Amino acid sequence: MENMKAVRIHKYGGPEVLLFEDAPRPVPGSGEVLIRVHAAGVNPVDWKIRAGYLKDSRPYTFPLILGWDLSGVVEATGPCACKFKKGDEVYSRPDSSRNGAYAEYIAVKELEVAFKPKSIDHIHAGAIPLACLTAWQAIFDTAGLSAGQKILIHAAAGGVGSFAVQLAKWKGAYVIGTASAENQSFLRELGVDEPIDYEETQFEDLVRDVDVVFDTIGGATQKRSWKVLKKGGILVSIVAPPSAEEAATNDVRQAFVWMMPNGAELTEIAALVDSGKLKAVVETILPLADARQAHELSQMGHTRGKIVLRVA
Ligand SMILES: NC(=O)c1ccc[n+]([C@@H]2O[C@H](COP(=O)([O-])OP(=O)(O)OC[C@H]3O[C@@H](n4cnc5c(N)ncnc54)[C@H](OP(=O)(O)O)[C@@H]3O)[C@@H](O)[C@H]2O)c1
Repeated sequence: MENMKAVRIHKYGGPEVLLFEDAPRPVPGSGEVLIRVHAAGVNPVDWKIRAGYLKDSRPYTFPLILGWDLSGVVEATGPCACKFKKGDEVYSRPDSSRNGAYAEYIAVKELEVAFKPKSIDHIHAGAIPLACLTAWQAIFDTAGLSAGQKILIHAAAGGVGSFAVQLAKWKGAYVIGTASAENQSFLRELGVDEPIDYEETQFEDLVRDVDVVFDTIGGATQKRSWKVLKKGGILVSIVAPPSAEEAATNDVRQAFVWMMPNGAELTEIAALVDSGKLKAVVETILPLADARQAHELSQMGHTRGKIVLRVA
């Protein structure tokens, strides 16, 4: 069995349980490709899984390779895999019930893979799949956002939020976004029509009659969001299921979205990137061996855009 370098955990815990070590190189199964990972995106779910926050709903076996966001090059194809060939440049949000992409190689089902955008490098492509698919599935597939509608996007400067802003603008929506004072001009650069400094202003004092609230924060922010929706509007959360009772009381709809891998949507997203309508903002690039530092940064909750690990 061949070995590779990977960042694995052998137990739940703090950033110190992330170990840069040798691990067996995976072998692609039926309908799978083996990808040489060039860049792995870092997402809050990585440290939530590392810390054991999801252990009741997602039982993992150890050792576990974290990270479910990648860009790389097809190294080999498994039996019955015919969509990609050795040498293809691809990106993916692989199945998060299996070993992830903090590694030199990963085996991924072909259905979860798409050709990477041609106009950007692996670092920027590796920042896209998980966060952008989440934004796409929340505001398009679930909320049905359309041209002329108004959307409030919480944490608009973050990984998911920065993609949601650009997708909503591309669709022709009017975008209101929240961030701290440091990120107000960044929100304007992304295309936000009405940036709100959440430290300075209670958003519910300014915002009225939106068609969609995209909640990426939860807690009090989610609760305070009901009153800004117009009748029949929708609150979509990716953090905590909103209350059906509160939705009914306010005469609005609610939904919780758990993003699913989707190679076909990644193909549409790649076309948007290559046409210049969508970009990945990468704030920090670290070597794979520094995954601990990447988690510490992500856990601070103030990432602008994305953090990416350079693997190849
Ligand atoms: N359900 C799913 O499938 C799914 C998928 C992806 C992500 N998620 C979850 O969604 C959440 C967001 O993910 P992410 O990747 O976008 O996180 P992230 O990139 O770490 O978010 C960081 C951003 O949050 C902003 N922020 C922090 N507190 C805020 C507040 N009170 N109001 C407005 N903005 C605030 C920060 O802006 P400032 O620095 O300006 O404060 C920063 O830009 C995470 O909890 C993640 O686990 C769920």
